[in-house]
Amino acid sequence: MIKLSDSPADIEKAADILKSGRLVAFPTETVYGLGADAFNTFALARVFEVKGRPRFDPLIIHIANLDALERIACIDGFDSQRRKQLNLLIDSFWPGPLTLVLPKRREVPDLATAGLPTAAVRFPSHPIARNLITLSTGAVAAPSANPFGRLSPSRAEHIIDTLGNSIDCIIDGGPCSVGVESTVLELLPVPRLLRLGGISMEQLELLIGPVEKNNAELECGPVKKEQFAAPSPGMLQSHYAPQTPLFLHSQKAMTVLPYNEKEGYLFFSAKNRESWNCRTIAGQLPDNNKPQTILTLSEEGNTTEAAANLFEYLHILDKSGVTCIHAETLPEEGIGAAVNDRLRRASVIH
Ligand code: TXA
Ligand code: MG
Repeated sequence: MIKLSDSPADIEKAADILKSGRLVAFPTETVYGLGADAFNTFALARVFEVKGRPRFDPLIIHIANLDALERIACIDGFDSQRRKQLNLLIDSFWPGPLTLVLPKRREVPDLATAGLPTAAVRFPSHPIARNLITLSTGAVAAPSANPFGRLSPSRAEHIIDTLGNSIDCIIDGGPCSVGVESTVLELLPVPRLLRLGGISMEQLELLIGPVEKNNAELECGPVKKEQFAAPSPGMLQSHYAPQTPLFLHSQKAMTVLPYNEKEGYLFFSAKNRESWNCRTIAGQLPDNNKPQTILTLSEEGNTTEAAANLFEYLHILDKSGVTCIHAETLPEEGIGAAVNDRLRRASVIH
């Protein structure tokens, strides 16, 4: 595995590796992706193998200009309302953390879409991702670069630790700015949210009107890996999980938890953390001597900052040797809802 920088020469090198059918991990604004040429079935098969990902879980195809959309999706069947919604979404959120599920072209390999008649398409805003896609094949299939079901990587180090030996190349572009994966939205027959992410439900509805929210996984219970039942397999209940058991608490419940130095704590804000300290271990943990097992996603209580830190802090706690992680829910608004979704799926009790 070679590690490359974000220099133009290195990105060109990485693009050549992709073009030759090998795998490149690269940064996007959400999380790092594990990229393969979307039209090379051998490369696609390796993505599933390396991640240990079931073949029923389709990949997102990343593009870097709108012409490439036509190579992947076919919107001939769209009526004028859907066409208008599609254009509004593209104009407002591309490039950016929104993935659109659209009817696929025949030429798109079934392996990329897990045999579905639709393809998930995303136009990332990260400059490294865009240059890499443009310089390689223009269509790069990329799941998050983590072993299946585990925490997503928000830094190159997370990939080196987990998939390092089995991939060909990593471009280190530093930490990702959004921190949670893209929002996945299906447009036909009606707009339907398949995964919460970097674009909030509020943002979508403000732009295109009502969006159906799929709560199927809450109603049906966990979807077994062998089943082809999940409307979007990213909705699998147990997903994005650290190896350490994680318990999710309401903000109120978190403030009355007893402190145990063998356990890890993930707070939303300084205010919440301080109210906990006061009640349970007053005076025992001076501010300047906080153990690395008590972390705060955003001192100021800013949900955008909290999302950007989420996976990184979960990785830190996971590696710290604590016996379990206690995390509190964020306010269920904007990107806070996506963070809560990831915490719920990472937790041992749903
Ligand atoms: O932010 C992101 O989306 C990151 C970066 C690398 O771009 N990628 C990512 O990929 O999160 P992945 O494979 O971890 O998640 C893709 C999600 C899965 O939940 C998958 O089931 C869903 O997109 N998906 C892909 N194609 C689909 C389709 N045709 N219909 C429904 N869901 C689809
Ligand atoms: Mg993933």
